[in-house]
Amino acid sequence: MKTELFDVRNYTDNESKLTEILQTPAGILAKGGIVAFPTETVYGLGANALSEISVKNIYKAKGRPSDNPLIVHIADISQLDAVVSEIPPAAQAVIRRFWPGPISIIMKKNPGIPDCVTAGMDTVAVRMPENPEAEILLRLAGCPVAAPSANLSGKPSPTKPEHVIHDLDGRVDGIILGRNCDVGIESTVLDVTVNPPVILRPGIITAEDLEAVIGEVRIALRKEKNSSVPKAPGMKYTHYAPDAPMILFEGTSDSVSSQICKTAEAELGAGKKIGIIATEETVEKYIRAFGENPSCRILSAGTRSNLKSIAHNVFDILRTFDIIGVDVILSEAFEAEGIGFSIMNRMDKAAAEIKTKGDSEEL
Ligand code: TXA
Ligand code: MG
Repeated sequence: MKTELFDVRNYTDNESKLTEILQTPAGILAKGGIVAFPTETVYGLGANALSEISVKNIYKAKGRPSDNPLIVHIADISQLDAVVSEIPPAAQAVIRRFWPGPISIIMKKNPGIPDCVTAGMDTVAVRMPENPEAEILLRLAGCPVAAPSANLSGKPSPTKPEHVIHDLDGRVDGIILGRNCDVGIESTVLDVTVNPPVILRPGIITAEDLEAVIGEVRIALRKEKNSSVPKAPGMKYTHYAPDAPMILFEGTSDSVSSQICKTAEAELGAGKKIGIIATEETVEKYIRAFGENPSCRILSAGTRSNLKSIAHNVFDILRTFDIIGVDVILSEAFEAEGIGFSIMNRMDKAAAEIKTKGDSEEL
C-alpha cells in the first residue's frame, strides 16, 4: 500500500495552513481510509468510527487482537450523542473540567457504533484531543474517529512522527507528520458506567485530579506484580516491549544506581551491549563509570522532580534502544505515586524482569 505523508511540522500552530493541508487526509478518513495523526498524548491511527470496514482495517494494519476495543475521538461536544447513549453526571463533570484533554471516558454506547469498535461490549471509550492538528483533522473529517495508538501491536506507543513512519509506512493510507507529543503516555481511561468510577488505565490526569472533581474513584490495576485480573481488555496483552529485555530496578535512588552499575559491569564483562535508562539526577554517575565504553549507551529519561518530563520521554527512549540495538536494558524505576504510578504502569508492562532492593542485594 502506498502511504501518503502530510508534513505539517512547520505549521503546527498555523490554523489556516493546517486547515489547508489537512483537507486531503480528512477526506481520506471520510471516504473510509485509515490515517495516523498526532494527539497531545501519543499518535493515533484513525478510521471513521461509523464504518465497520474502515475500523477493521485498523486492526489489520496494527496486527491488533480484535477483542481489544478502540477509543472514539471527537472534535466537538455536539458529536457525543452519536457515540454514546447516556452521559452520566460524573462524565459531565469530567468533560467540563478536562476536555479537550488527555482523558477517555467510558459510557454506554450508541447503537450506531459498530461492534468492532467496542469489541462487542455495550460501552464505548470517547475522548476529545487537545492539539490543533487533531482538532482540525477531526472537524474537517466530520465523523467520529476510532483510533488506537499508531504503533504495531505490542510495541511502545509512538510519540514522534518518525516512530509512526517506522511502524506503519506502507500499511496505512496516510500519516500526518506533526509535533512530538507533549504528554507522551496515553490518555487516562475512566469508566463512569460504574459507581464509584474506575480508572482502567492511569495517565497524566491522575486519581487525585479526578477525585477533586467527582469524589471517590477506584483504580482497577494496582502495581503488585502478577496480581492483576484484567479489567480493560487491553490489560491482558504484552505491551510496549522493546526488542531487548528490560530489567527494572526498584529501591532508593542510591541503591538503584549502585545495583545498575554492578549489573552493567557483569553484562559488559560477558560481552553484552547494554542500554541504561537514567535520570538527570543520576546520569553523571553512569557516565563516570561507563561513558567511555562503546558497548554501553546511557540515556536520561528526564528529571525525577518533574515526572511529566519522564512521561514525555519514556516511549521514545524504549524505541531509541530498539534502533541502537542493545542486548539488555537496565532501567531505574520510579515511585508509583501520582504521575509516577502511570509511568510505572507502562514500565512494568515493558519490563522482562523487576528487581526490588532485596533481589538486587543477591547480585
Ligand atoms: O491517548 C490515547 O488514549 C491514545 C490516543 C491515540 O488517543 N489512544 C490509545 O488507544 O491509547 P489504545 O487503543 O492504544 O488504548 C485504548 C485502551 C485499551 O486499553 C482498551 O482496552 C481500552 O482503552 N478501552 C477502549 N474501550 C473500552 C471499553 N469500552 N471498555 C474498557 N476498556 C476500553
Ligand atoms: Mg495502544
